[in-house]
Amino acid sequence: MRTDFVLKAPPMGWNSWNTFYDQISDELIRSTADAMVEKGLAEAGYEYVIIDDCWSQKTRDGEGNLVPDPVKFPHGMKDLADYVHGKGLKLGIYSCCGVHTCAGYPGSFEHEFQDARLFADWGIDYLKYDNCFHPSTLASETLYRRMNLALRASGRDILLAACQWGRDEVHSWIRSTGAHTFRSTIDIQDSWRSIEQIALSQLDKQAFAGPGCYNDMDILVAGMYGKGLNPETSIGGCSDTEYQTHFLLWAMMQSPLIIGCSLTDMNETTRTLLTNRDVIAVNQDPEGRGCHKLSTYGSPDAFILVRQLAGGDLAIGFFNFGDAPALTELHFWDLGLPLGAGFGLSFHDCMTHEDLGLQRESFSRRLPAHGSALYRCRLEAVR
Ligand code: GLA
Repeated sequence: MRTDFVLKAPPMGWNSWNTFYDQISDELIRSTADAMVEKGLAEAGYEYVIIDDCWSQKTRDGEGNLVPDPVKFPHGMKDLADYVHGKGLKLGIYSCCGVHTCAGYPGSFEHEFQDARLFADWGIDYLKYDNCFHPSTLASETLYRRMNLALRASGRDILLAACQWGRDEVHSWIRSTGAHTFRSTIDIQDSWRSIEQIALSQLDKQAFAGPGCYNDMDILVAGMYGKGLNPETSIGGCSDTEYQTHFLLWAMMQSPLIIGCSLTDMNETTRTLLTNRDVIAVNQDPEGRGCHKLSTYGSPDAFILVRQLAGGDLAIGFFNFGDAPALTELHFWDLGLPLGAGFGLSFHDCMTHEDLGLQRESFSRRLPAHGSALYRCRLEAVR
Protein backbone atom coordinates (compact mmCIF):
# COMPACT_ATOMS: atom_id res chain seq x y z
CA MET A 1 0.00 0.00 0.00
CA ARG A 2 1.21 3.52 -0.62
CA THR A 3 -0.26 6.95 -0.27
CA ASP A 4 1.03 10.16 -1.83
CA PHE A 5 0.31 12.47 1.04
CA VAL A 6 3.10 14.88 2.00
CA LEU A 7 2.16 17.75 4.28
CA LYS A 8 3.74 20.93 2.92
CA ALA A 9 2.25 23.52 5.28
CA PRO A 10 0.47 23.59 8.65
CA PRO A 11 -3.11 22.33 8.24
CA MET A 12 -5.93 24.90 8.50
CA GLY A 13 -9.47 24.18 9.56
CA TRP A 14 -12.02 24.16 12.37
CA ASN A 15 -12.56 21.82 15.35
CA SER A 16 -15.71 21.29 17.41
CA TRP A 17 -14.13 20.84 20.85
CA ASN A 18 -13.55 24.37 22.21
CA THR A 19 -17.04 25.70 21.62
CA PHE A 20 -19.34 22.73 21.20
CA TYR A 21 -17.80 20.12 23.55
CA ASP A 22 -20.08 17.04 23.41
CA GLN A 23 -22.98 18.96 21.77
CA ILE A 24 -22.01 18.00 18.23
CA SER A 25 -24.29 16.94 15.41
CA ASP A 26 -24.61 16.34 11.70
CA GLU A 27 -26.35 19.71 11.44
CA LEU A 28 -23.53 21.53 13.22
CA ILE A 29 -20.89 20.03 10.94
CA ARG A 30 -22.89 20.80 7.78
CA SER A 31 -23.64 24.39 8.83
CA THR A 32 -19.98 24.86 9.79
CA ALA A 33 -18.88 23.61 6.36
CA ASP A 34 -21.40 26.00 4.75
CA ALA A 35 -20.07 28.92 6.82
CA MET A 36 -16.46 28.03 6.03
CA VAL A 37 -17.24 28.56 2.37
CA GLU A 38 -19.73 31.45 2.66
CA LYS A 39 -17.58 33.54 5.02
CA GLY A 40 -14.48 33.35 2.84
CA LEU A 41 -12.56 31.07 5.19
CA ALA A 42 -12.19 28.31 2.61
CA GLU A 43 -10.86 30.82 0.12
CA ALA A 44 -8.35 31.98 2.72
CA GLY A 45 -7.07 28.38 3.06
CA TYR A 46 -9.15 26.69 5.78
CA GLU A 47 -10.15 23.21 4.63
CA TYR A 48 -10.54 20.65 7.46
CA VAL A 49 -13.83 20.45 9.36
CA ILE A 50 -12.93 18.32 12.38
CA ILE A 51 -15.32 16.43 14.65
CA ASP A 52 -13.66 16.01 18.06
CA ASP A 53 -14.55 13.61 20.88
CA CYS A 54 -18.08 12.32 21.71
CA TRP A 55 -19.28 11.44 18.19
CA SER A 56 -19.73 7.66 18.62
CA GLN A 57 -21.86 5.32 20.61
CA LYS A 58 -20.40 4.16 23.92
CA THR A 59 -19.88 0.60 22.63
CA ARG A 60 -18.69 -0.98 19.40
CA ASP A 61 -21.08 -3.12 17.32
CA GLY A 62 -21.04 -6.93 17.10
CA GLU A 63 -18.23 -6.84 14.56
CA GLY A 64 -16.15 -4.53 16.69
CA ASN A 65 -16.80 -1.44 14.58
CA LEU A 66 -17.22 2.06 15.94
CA VAL A 67 -20.77 3.33 15.45
CA PRO A 68 -21.69 7.01 15.09
CA ASP A 69 -24.22 8.20 17.67
CA PRO A 70 -27.54 7.80 15.78
CA VAL A 71 -29.07 10.87 17.43
CA LYS A 72 -26.14 13.18 16.75
CA PHE A 73 -25.27 11.75 13.32
CA PRO A 74 -28.46 10.14 11.94
CA HIS A 75 -27.17 9.99 8.36
CA GLY A 76 -23.88 8.32 9.27
CA MET A 77 -20.37 9.55 8.54
CA LYS A 78 -20.12 8.63 4.87
CA ASP A 79 -23.07 10.82 3.98
CA LEU A 80 -21.60 13.66 6.03
CA ALA A 81 -18.18 13.26 4.41
CA ASP A 82 -19.83 13.39 0.96
CA TYR A 83 -21.51 16.67 1.94
CA VAL A 84 -18.28 18.20 3.25
CA HIS A 85 -16.36 17.03 0.17
CA GLY A 86 -19.11 18.51 -2.01
CA LYS A 87 -18.17 21.90 -0.55
CA GLY A 88 -14.55 21.36 -1.57
CA LEU A 89 -13.58 20.74 2.07
CA LYS A 90 -12.23 17.79 4.07
CA LEU A 91 -13.64 15.94 7.06
CA GLY A 92 -11.71 15.16 10.25
CA ILE A 93 -12.61 12.79 13.06
CA TYR A 94 -11.23 11.95 16.50
CA SER A 95 -10.05 8.80 18.24
CA CYS A 96 -7.59 7.84 20.93
CA CYS A 97 -4.64 5.44 21.21
CA GLY A 98 -6.04 4.06 24.48
CA VAL A 99 -9.01 1.87 25.29
CA HIS A 100 -11.25 4.91 25.81
CA THR A 101 -11.19 8.44 24.47
CA CYS A 102 -10.61 11.21 26.99
CA ALA A 103 -14.39 11.64 27.34
CA GLY A 104 -14.97 7.89 27.82
CA TYR A 105 -16.02 6.73 24.35
CA PRO A 106 -14.34 3.68 22.73
CA GLY A 107 -10.69 4.26 21.81
CA SER A 108 -8.77 2.57 19.00
CA PHE A 109 -6.38 0.45 21.11
CA GLU A 110 -6.09 -3.00 19.49
CA HIS A 111 -8.60 -1.87 16.85
CA GLU A 112 -6.19 0.41 14.97
CA PHE A 113 -6.30 -1.31 11.57
CA GLN A 114 -10.05 -1.91 11.74
CA ASP A 115 -10.77 1.72 12.67
CA ALA A 116 -8.40 3.13 10.04
CA ARG A 117 -10.16 1.02 7.40
CA LEU A 118 -13.56 2.23 8.61
CA PHE A 119 -12.43 5.90 8.58
CA ALA A 120 -11.07 5.41 5.06
CA ASP A 121 -14.36 3.80 3.93
CA TRP A 122 -16.27 6.79 5.32
CA GLY A 123 -14.01 9.23 3.43
CA ILE A 124 -12.29 10.73 6.46
CA ASP A 125 -9.29 12.97 5.65
CA TYR A 126 -7.87 13.83 9.09
CA LEU A 127 -7.60 11.87 12.33
CA LYS A 128 -6.97 13.64 15.63
CA TYR A 129 -5.46 10.87 17.74
CA ASP A 130 -5.47 11.44 21.49
CA ASN A 131 -3.49 9.93 24.35
CA CYS A 132 -5.92 8.99 27.16
CA PHE A 133 -6.30 5.55 28.76
CA HIS A 134 -3.47 3.77 27.01
CA PRO A 135 -2.04 0.70 28.76
CA SER A 136 0.88 1.63 31.02
CA THR A 137 2.99 -1.16 29.56
CA LEU A 138 3.02 0.43 26.09
CA ALA A 139 4.58 3.78 25.25
CA SER A 140 2.28 6.08 23.33
CA GLU A 141 5.14 6.39 20.84
CA THR A 142 4.52 2.74 19.86
CA LEU A 143 0.80 3.39 19.55
CA TYR A 144 1.27 6.43 17.30
CA ARG A 145 3.52 4.31 15.08
CA ARG A 146 0.76 1.70 14.96
CA MET A 147 -1.95 4.11 13.89
CA ASN A 148 0.33 5.62 11.28
CA LEU A 149 0.84 2.18 9.72
CA ALA A 150 -2.87 1.44 10.00
CA LEU A 151 -3.73 4.66 8.15
CA ARG A 152 -1.15 3.89 5.49
CA ALA A 153 -2.57 0.39 5.12
CA SER A 154 -6.04 1.87 4.60
CA GLY A 155 -4.82 3.26 1.28
CA ARG A 156 -6.45 6.65 1.87
CA ASP A 157 -4.52 9.87 2.47
CA ILE A 158 -5.45 10.67 6.05
CA LEU A 159 -3.61 13.32 8.03
CA LEU A 160 -2.51 11.94 11.42
CA ALA A 161 -2.77 14.66 14.07
CA ALA A 162 -1.13 13.25 17.19
CA CYS A 163 -2.47 14.73 20.42
CA GLN A 164 0.15 13.89 23.00
CA TRP A 165 0.10 17.14 25.01
CA GLY A 166 3.88 17.63 24.86
CA ARG A 167 4.57 14.65 27.12
CA ASP A 168 7.66 12.39 26.94
CA GLU A 169 9.64 14.92 24.87
CA VAL A 170 7.23 14.23 22.01
CA HIS A 171 8.92 16.78 19.73
CA SER A 172 12.07 14.64 19.65
CA TRP A 173 10.48 11.43 18.30
CA ILE A 174 7.10 12.24 16.78
CA ARG A 175 8.41 13.05 13.29
CA SER A 176 9.73 9.49 12.95
CA THR A 177 6.29 8.00 13.71
CA GLY A 178 4.86 9.41 10.49
CA ALA A 179 2.43 11.75 12.31
CA HIS A 180 1.82 15.04 10.49
CA THR A 181 1.22 17.26 13.50
CA PHE A 182 1.81 16.89 17.22
CA ARG A 183 0.06 18.61 20.09
CA SER A 184 2.83 20.03 22.23
CA THR A 185 0.96 21.41 25.23
CA ILE A 186 -1.92 20.78 27.58
CA ASP A 187 -5.35 21.99 26.45
CA ILE A 188 -5.69 25.66 25.64
CA GLN A 189 -8.11 27.87 27.55
CA ASP A 190 -9.86 31.02 26.38
CA SER A 191 -7.65 33.28 28.49
CA TRP A 192 -4.61 35.47 27.96
CA ARG A 193 -2.57 33.51 30.53
CA SER A 194 -3.12 30.27 28.60
CA ILE A 195 -2.09 31.84 25.28
CA GLU A 196 1.00 33.34 26.88
CA GLN A 197 1.98 30.11 28.62
CA ILE A 198 1.60 27.97 25.48
CA ALA A 199 3.58 30.39 23.30
CA LEU A 200 6.44 30.75 25.77
CA SER A 201 6.66 26.98 26.28
CA GLN A 202 7.19 26.38 22.55
CA LEU A 203 9.82 29.00 21.69
CA ASP A 204 12.64 26.54 22.29
CA LYS A 205 10.96 23.83 20.17
CA GLN A 206 11.06 25.76 16.90
CA ALA A 207 13.72 23.57 15.35
CA PHE A 208 11.52 20.47 15.59
CA ALA A 209 8.65 21.54 13.34
CA GLY A 210 8.53 22.04 9.60
CA PRO A 211 7.25 20.47 6.38
CA GLY A 212 6.04 16.95 7.00
CA CYS A 213 5.32 17.40 10.72
CA TYR A 214 4.19 20.58 12.49
CA ASN A 215 3.94 21.58 16.15
CA ASP A 216 0.24 21.90 17.01
CA MET A 217 -0.12 24.53 19.75
CA ASP A 218 -3.81 23.60 20.04
CA ILE A 219 -7.11 24.88 18.67
CA LEU A 220 -7.40 28.67 18.37
CA VAL A 221 -9.55 30.43 20.94
CA ALA A 222 -9.77 33.65 18.88
CA GLY A 223 -13.38 34.81 18.59
CA MET A 224 -14.70 32.77 21.52
CA TYR A 225 -15.09 35.74 23.93
CA GLY A 226 -15.66 33.37 26.85
CA LYS A 227 -18.62 31.71 25.12
CA GLY A 228 -18.82 28.01 24.46
CA LEU A 229 -20.11 24.86 26.07
CA ASN A 230 -16.72 23.47 27.08
CA PRO A 231 -16.30 24.30 30.78
CA GLU A 232 -12.56 23.57 30.62
CA THR A 233 -11.89 25.95 27.72
CA SER A 234 -14.39 28.75 28.15
CA ILE A 235 -13.08 30.53 31.19
CA GLY A 236 -13.44 34.24 30.68
CA GLY A 237 -12.38 35.17 27.18
CA CYS A 238 -9.86 37.64 25.78
CA SER A 239 -9.85 41.08 24.21
CA ASP A 240 -9.51 41.55 20.44
CA THR A 241 -5.95 42.79 21.04
CA GLU A 242 -5.13 39.51 22.79
CA TYR A 243 -6.80 37.40 20.09
CA GLN A 244 -4.72 39.20 17.47
CA THR A 245 -1.52 38.43 19.42
CA HIS A 246 -2.63 34.80 19.75
CA PHE A 247 -3.20 34.47 16.00
CA LEU A 248 0.10 36.16 15.10
CA LEU A 249 2.02 33.90 17.49
CA TRP A 250 0.44 30.72 16.11
CA ALA A 251 1.13 31.97 12.58
CA MET A 252 4.76 32.86 13.27
CA MET A 253 5.40 29.61 15.14
CA GLN A 254 3.97 27.48 12.29
CA SER A 255 1.19 25.97 14.36
CA PRO A 256 -1.77 24.46 12.51
CA LEU A 257 -4.50 27.11 12.35
CA ILE A 258 -7.56 25.27 13.59
CA ILE A 259 -10.39 27.65 14.49
CA GLY A 260 -12.31 26.88 17.69
CA CYS A 261 -15.07 29.49 17.77
CA SER A 262 -18.47 29.06 16.16
CA LEU A 263 -18.16 29.86 12.44
CA THR A 264 -21.86 30.56 12.06
CA ASP A 265 -21.85 33.23 14.81
CA MET A 266 -18.38 34.65 14.15
CA ASN A 267 -18.20 38.45 14.24
CA GLU A 268 -16.55 40.58 11.55
CA THR A 269 -13.49 41.41 13.67
CA THR A 270 -12.76 37.71 14.11
CA ARG A 271 -13.44 36.93 10.46
CA THR A 272 -11.11 39.70 9.32
CA LEU A 273 -8.38 38.52 11.67
CA LEU A 274 -8.62 34.83 10.78
CA THR A 275 -8.70 35.46 7.03
CA ASN A 276 -5.78 37.92 6.99
CA ARG A 277 -3.86 36.75 3.94
CA ASP A 278 -0.56 38.38 4.87
CA VAL A 279 -0.55 36.56 8.21
CA ILE A 280 -1.69 33.25 6.71
CA ALA A 281 1.07 33.49 4.08
CA VAL A 282 3.65 33.67 6.88
CA ASN A 283 2.11 30.63 8.59
CA GLN A 284 1.97 28.66 5.34
CA ASP A 285 5.42 29.66 4.09
CA PRO A 286 6.75 26.67 2.11
CA GLU A 287 10.28 26.90 3.42
CA GLY A 288 8.94 26.00 6.86
CA ARG A 289 11.73 27.41 9.00
CA GLY A 290 11.14 28.06 12.67
CA CYS A 291 11.51 31.51 14.16
CA HIS A 292 14.07 32.79 16.63
CA LYS A 293 13.58 35.19 19.49
CA LEU A 294 15.31 38.51 20.03
CA SER A 295 15.06 40.74 23.05
CA THR A 296 13.88 44.27 22.53
CA TYR A 297 15.39 47.34 24.13
CA GLY A 298 13.37 48.88 26.89
CA SER A 299 10.78 46.37 27.99
CA PRO A 300 11.65 43.02 29.63
CA ASP A 301 8.17 41.65 28.85
CA ALA A 302 8.33 42.35 25.11
CA PHE A 303 10.22 40.36 22.48
CA ILE A 304 10.64 40.00 18.75
CA LEU A 305 10.32 36.86 16.63
CA VAL A 306 12.12 36.65 13.30
CA ARG A 307 11.52 34.06 10.63
CA GLN A 308 13.25 33.47 7.28
CA LEU A 309 10.69 33.01 4.51
CA ALA A 310 10.96 31.45 1.07
CA GLY A 311 12.23 33.90 -1.53
CA GLY A 312 14.39 35.84 0.91
CA ASP A 313 11.78 37.83 2.86
CA LEU A 314 11.80 37.97 6.65
CA ALA A 315 8.73 37.86 8.89
CA ILE A 316 9.28 40.01 11.95
CA GLY A 317 6.76 39.95 14.80
CA PHE A 318 6.73 42.33 17.78
CA PHE A 319 5.02 41.05 20.93
CA ASN A 320 4.32 42.73 24.24
CA PHE A 321 3.44 40.23 26.97
CA GLY A 322 3.57 42.96 29.61
CA ASP A 323 0.47 44.28 31.37
CA ALA A 324 1.33 47.87 30.36
CA PRO A 325 2.02 49.48 26.96
CA ALA A 326 5.63 49.16 25.79
CA LEU A 327 7.92 50.52 23.14
CA THR A 328 9.49 47.63 21.20
CA GLU A 329 12.60 48.37 19.23
CA LEU A 330 14.56 46.24 16.78
CA HIS A 331 18.13 47.11 15.87
CA PHE A 332 18.91 45.42 12.58
CA TRP A 333 22.41 44.37 13.66
CA ASP A 334 20.68 42.00 16.13
CA LEU A 335 19.28 39.99 13.25
CA GLY A 336 22.52 39.88 11.29
CA LEU A 337 22.49 43.14 9.37
CA PRO A 338 25.46 45.20 10.46
CA LEU A 339 25.69 48.96 10.08
CA GLY A 340 27.62 49.69 6.93
CA ALA A 341 26.40 46.55 5.14
CA GLY A 342 24.73 48.87 2.68
CA PHE A 343 21.30 47.31 3.22
CA GLY A 344 18.20 48.20 5.13
CA LEU A 345 14.80 46.50 5.36
CA SER A 346 11.56 47.52 3.70
CA PHE A 347 8.56 46.92 5.99
CA HIS A 348 5.09 45.76 4.97
CA ASP A 349 2.55 45.83 7.81
CA CYS A 350 0.64 42.53 7.72
CA MET A 351 -2.26 43.89 9.77
CA THR A 352 -2.94 47.14 7.87
CA HIS A 353 -1.42 45.92 4.55
CA GLU A 354 0.51 49.21 4.28
CA ASP A 355 4.01 49.48 2.84
CA LEU A 356 6.10 51.50 5.24
CA GLY A 357 9.14 51.83 2.99
CA LEU A 358 12.84 51.33 3.64
CA GLN A 359 14.01 51.44 7.25
CA ARG A 360 17.74 51.91 7.63
CA GLU A 361 19.11 50.75 10.98
CA SER A 362 16.24 50.08 13.30
CA PHE A 363 12.48 49.96 13.62
CA SER A 364 10.34 50.64 16.65
CA ARG A 365 6.71 50.19 17.45
CA ARG A 366 4.68 51.09 20.50
CA LEU A 367 2.35 48.26 21.50
CA PRO A 368 -0.55 48.11 23.93
CA ALA A 369 -0.52 45.63 26.82
CA HIS A 370 -0.62 42.10 25.32
CA GLY A 371 -0.37 43.70 21.87
CA SER A 372 1.47 42.66 18.73
CA ALA A 373 2.50 43.64 15.21
CA LEU A 374 3.72 41.59 12.26
CA TYR A 375 5.75 42.76 9.26
CA ARG A 376 6.97 41.17 6.09
CA CYS A 377 10.41 42.63 5.38
CA ARG A 378 12.80 42.62 2.44
CA LEU A 379 16.45 43.49 2.17
CA GLU A 380 17.00 46.61 0.10
CA ALA A 381 20.16 48.50 -0.79
CA VAL A 382 20.52 51.85 0.97
CA ARG A 383 21.47 54.57 -1.51
C1 GLA B 1 -8.04 15.93 25.23
C2 GLA B 1 -7.50 16.79 24.07
C3 GLA B 1 -8.52 17.85 23.70
C4 GLA B 1 -9.85 17.20 23.32
C5 GLA B 1 -10.32 16.30 24.46
C6 GLA B 1 -11.53 15.47 24.06
O1 GLA B 1 -8.15 16.68 26.39
O2 GLA B 1 -6.28 17.37 24.43
O3 GLA B 1 -8.04 18.64 22.63
O4 GLA B 1 -9.68 16.45 22.14
O5 GLA B 1 -9.31 15.39 24.88
O6 GLA B 1 -11.98 14.66 25.09
